[in-house]
Amino acid sequence: MSSTHRPGDAPEPARFRELLPAPGSTDVDLPRAYAYPPALDRPWIRANMVASADGGAIGPSGRSRDLSSAPDRRVMGVLRGLCDVVLVGAATARKEGYRPVRPREVWSDLRADRPATPRIAVVSRSLDIHEELLTTAPEDARTIVFTAGDAPAERRRFVAEHADLVVVDGVSVGPEHIVNALAERGLHRVLTEGGPHLLAEFVAAGLLDELCLTVSPHLLGAGPPRIVTGGPGTPGAPEHAPASSTPVRMAHLLEAGGNLFTRYLRE
Ligand SMILES: NC(=O)c1ccc[n+]([C@@H]2O[C@H](COP(=O)([O-])OP(=O)(O)OC[C@H]3O[C@@H](n4cnc5c(N)ncnc54)[C@H](OP(=O)(O)O)[C@@H]3O)[C@@H](O)[C@H]2O)c1
Repeated sequence: MSSTHRPGDAPEPARFRELLPAPGSTDVDLPRAYAYPPALDRPWIRANMVASADGGAIGPSGRSRDLSSAPDRRVMGVLRGLCDVVLVGAATARKEGYRPVRPREVWSDLRADRPATPRIAVVSRSLDIHEELLTTAPEDARTIVFTAGDAPAERRRFVAEHADLVVVDGVSVGPEHIVNALAERGLHRVLTEGGPHLLAEFVAAGLLDELCLTVSPHLLGAGPPRIVTGGPGTPGAPEHAPASSTPVRMAHLLEAGGNLFTRYLRE
């Protein structure tokens, strides 16, 4: 803490230290560190996830927030400020209470010439999505919903009335359908916040460009899933699928408040 900090003051925000590629900097410019590649001509799929030190992705409350922290929320805020669209699986939207993103003053520079907030895009077969997520989004940041052809007809009508509904033929929405629909809408800076089932589908399809992973100083034991998981109910992701390996390189490693912030890019 700095010498100006007095007892009773609010705790000072943790500083971000750069460990890689250039150790030493203690005041990392986060928007610069996490900038998307310039002049994208296709959707760039970045994931932001948090895991415990022993690899678990869901805490005792059934959510990821047990693993989060003020520095992690700061990174999450910057990543949301930088992106055009936040993409999530419906289970994450339900469990974590997703609503339209609220504008933040600190984003004014990051979002110049763009809507004040990124859009939320939800992938769902059941269309069990909180009404507010569909009905309260601003006109320039309408919620997008991806669903399959066999989704319940009545829910489909409701969603189509209030949101941008993309229906894919068949029983499942493939990651390639999502990428194509985002490209058609000019939404190139994509941030997926999971969950583990949706992320597994993007990894399996070879469509994940970047992983921003927070390693949180907790141990969760053997129960919780990893940040990618599959199993019954996830088409194309059998429980014990053969392992495949995609090389990634570390673009940076930061530390704040005992959390590690990794940024990996696909080679
Ligand atoms: N550690 C982290 O960083 C992190 C991040 C996010 C979430 N989480 C945690 O992970 C849990 C939720 O994640 P999850 O892996 O269970 O679920 P998820 O990936 O968020 O969502 C799965 C749901 O998405 C829809 N879906 C996924 N693939 C689909 C496809 N190909 N076609 C059509 N619909 C598809 C289905 O929705 P319907 O059920 O509506 O049909 C499916 O049940 C929560 O506990 C959350 O707190 C952790």
